[in-house]
Amino acid sequence: MKIGIHDLDIATTHYVLNLDSMAKALDIDPNKYHIGLGQDEFSVPAPDEDVVTMGAEAVARLLERHDKSKIRMVLFATETGIDQSKAAGVFVHGLLGLPQSVRTVEFKQACYSGTAAIQTAVNHVARYTDDQVLVIASDIARYAADSGGEPTQGAGAVAMLITANPALVEIEPDSGVFTADVNDFWRPNDSSTPFVEGKLSLDAYLDATIGAWDDLVSRRGVKIDDIHRFLHHQPFTKMARKAHTKLAEHVGVELGPELIEESMAYNRRLGNSYTASLYFGLVAQLHGNDDLAGKRLGLFSYGSGSVSEFFTAVVQPGYHDHIYPAHVADSLDRRVEVSFDEYRELHAAYNGASENYETEEVTQAPFRFAGVTDRVRQYETR
Ligand code: COA
Repeated sequence: MKIGIHDLDIATTHYVLNLDSMAKALDIDPNKYHIGLGQDEFSVPAPDEDVVTMGAEAVARLLERHDKSKIRMVLFATETGIDQSKAAGVFVHGLLGLPQSVRTVEFKQACYSGTAAIQTAVNHVARYTDDQVLVIASDIARYAADSGGEPTQGAGAVAMLITANPALVEIEPDSGVFTADVNDFWRPNDSSTPFVEGKLSLDAYLDATIGAWDDLVSRRGVKIDDIHRFLHHQPFTKMARKAHTKLAEHVGVELGPELIEESMAYNRRLGNSYTASLYFGLVAQLHGNDDLAGKRLGLFSYGSGSVSEFFTAVVQPGYHDHIYPAHVADSLDRRVEVSFDEYRELHAAYNGASENYETEEVTQAPFRFAGVTDRVRQYETR
């Protein structure tokens, strides 16, 4: 029986910063961003947006096409947790009026945990074949001002429905996994921005690419030319190019840039969306010009710290009838552009405190974060 991603949808934020504005304000050659990092813009949240409002919007779009009574589990993957105890998915469950007979839990391991959630969902459906599992990957990458990571910020959510006989992609059994205890990127409980060893994180990512690939090969004997397109985690899209080059060197064959090109189209404009980034890569690949029916994709998921996984997915015949490029175009194009100064004001105004406050009403999205009352985060449906 095939199990995989039956349907998916996305959301991002109200605002966007064009990296040309950042380059001008900081007196940096814009080509460092466009070519050196492979990024053009990044999504910036309004004060009344967070991982719950983005995740809920993505789920709402997805569930317009499905019967929510079949959902048995909600897995919310994020490294932008809003509470140390309560899963962000429980807020989404409430906002969407999902059935109470649902297991809801949050997954965390830097940018990797969306993949852990998907594999958990696939294993659940293998046992309970009529069940459907909702996986939400939602994150806001917020680095310190003037840090190396600042131009690679971004935000977005991808909601995915995992079922038997999927319409989009079958997740094939057996993947390559790799864990290495490395301090390349981490965010302590008392910090709203991560600590990053930038260069170490590039090396750790590339080591993990090879480690996870070798494990995949030893488990299943996959050959490099069994794979039609490669999708690598994209903290900035140049990183996918580095991984692609490293993999080609490792296996000793030439892998042309066209094998990864289409997967980067959306992330260039969203910036880093951490757990959602690889899945925005998948969305972009499915929306590309290539006819992928019956073709195998190789997906590499990396989360600093580090945990990673190389797995394969086969695109299903008829998938074209189940993709919605207009939703992505709408989300990207409706963002309101901010100046560099406005972006820095929004960045500085981030409030992670649990004292009472109300947020200004800005977002035009279906759900908003209204503020905190008696230590409880308040959400509204608009
Ligand atoms: N035109 C074209 N390219 C340019 C350029 C210009 N004017 N100026 C610089 N570049 C290139 C550099 O050559 C480099 O390319 P390379 O990596 O292929 O050699 C790239 O732009 C980045 O320049 P660099 O000086 O290394 O940038 P940086 O010191 O500001 O830091 C990161 C880059 C990735 C380390 C930093 O953005 C970061 O810490 N990011 C967050 C962590 C992260 O995402 N890690 C990834 C693994 S999870």
